[in-house]
Amino acid sequence: MASRLSMVPIPLLSVSCENLHKIHQPSTLFSNPSLFAFYKTISSSKSNRRPQLVHVVNQELVQSADSKLTHDSQTAPQSSKLVLVVGGSGGVGQLVVASLLSRNIKSRLILRDPEKATILFGGQDEKKLQVWKGDTRDPGDLDPLIFVGVTHVICCTGTTAFPSKRWDGDNTPERVDWEGVRNLVSMLPPSVSRVVLVSSIGVTKFNELPWSILNLFGVLKYKKMGEDFVRNSGLPFTIIRAGRLTDGPYTSYDLNTLLRATAGQRRAVVLGQGDKLVGEVSRLVVAEACIQALDIEFTEGQIYEINSVEGEGPGSDPQKWRELFKAAQAQ
Ligand SMILES: NC(=O)c1ccc[n+]([C@@H]2O[C@H](COP(=O)([O-])OP(=O)(O)OC[C@H]3O[C@@H](n4cnc5c(N)ncnc54)[C@H](OP(=O)(O)O)[C@@H]3O)[C@@H](O)[C@H]2O)c1
Repeated sequence: MASRLSMVPIPLLSVSCENLHKIHQPSTLFSNPSLFAFYKTISSSKSNRRPQLVHVVNQELVQSADSKLTHDSQTAPQSSKLVLVVGGSGGVGQLVVASLLSRNIKSRLILRDPEKATILFGGQDEKKLQVWKGDTRDPGDLDPLIFVGVTHVICCTGTTAFPSKRWDGDNTPERVDWEGVRNLVSMLPPSVSRVVLVSSIGVTKFNELPWSILNLFGVLKYKKMGEDFVRNSGLPFTIIRAGRLTDGPYTSYDLNTLLRATAGQRRAVVLGQGDKLVGEVSRLVVAEACIQALDIEFTEGQIYEINSVEGEGPGSDPQKWRELFKAAQAQ
């Protein structure tokens, strides 16, 4: 049975790189080295072509003021949202959580190892961040109390596409991307306003090259099954299909450093619908897209694909994100 960990407010922790490297093994969906090289080739072979779905909004993506967290969370009005983040210790997930904290939006995490939250986010007031222990593969491990009061959900769980240490204990794509998503979604109350699921480009083409290689152990197939379960759940959903993730995971930092993370030059957002993109996307951009989608009513029931390219981006400007999502739907 899941158990809840309350976090006592203490100053944000500075954590040694050594410790954090132990937390996160940066091997994810596209991170198999040979496949990565293959994937890069494919991406770059298309890079001379102008992306068909480009909607670049010329604005700064990341504000990186030193005191951003302190400043924002003190000045932002307390939100009425309670966002359940699943996979909050992962690359995208930790950026989602840090960003919610900075926006003064309450979040609740389901983590297999709740201590990771303390290391990543420091001690936070329980009114802002609550952490429950739970493994999505086991429905019995998801305490119904976890879901009480939750208004929105962002699910960014995942594991490696190919056998790795992250599969230890049968934590395979089938168990995480399919069964885990199914178990989670089955527990959600019908009152939730939005469920955002981070998925992957290529899920509809897992029998075609190059995706069939990435899918050798079923990751794309199981991600699609997870997507379909969300779509058929009757819950208001948005699915974000990410390209190969870049930038981070920011595993060697504390929360303030997470908030200063930048998407490098890759800040301009390429957003489309369907499954046509081949390319990369900054984790920071994916995290921001998930948070923005929560508030944009017309993203309900929609599936987007996302890349990011060099250039300025929408930053955290809600209007610019509205325009991007709207333009994607208009194609
Ligand atoms: N990597 C890519 O290039 C790529 C491309 C497209 C889409 N994606 C997808 O994008 C999303 C985010 O990717 P990422 O690289 O940021 O993720 P990540 O770093 O691999 O993080 C995965 C998260 O899922 C959690 N998780 C794994 N198994 C779990 C379980 N059984 N129960 C509960 N939580 C579990 C992990 O928790 P622990 O800390 O307990 O392990 C971690 O928080 C994933 O869905 C991924 O598949 C990735």
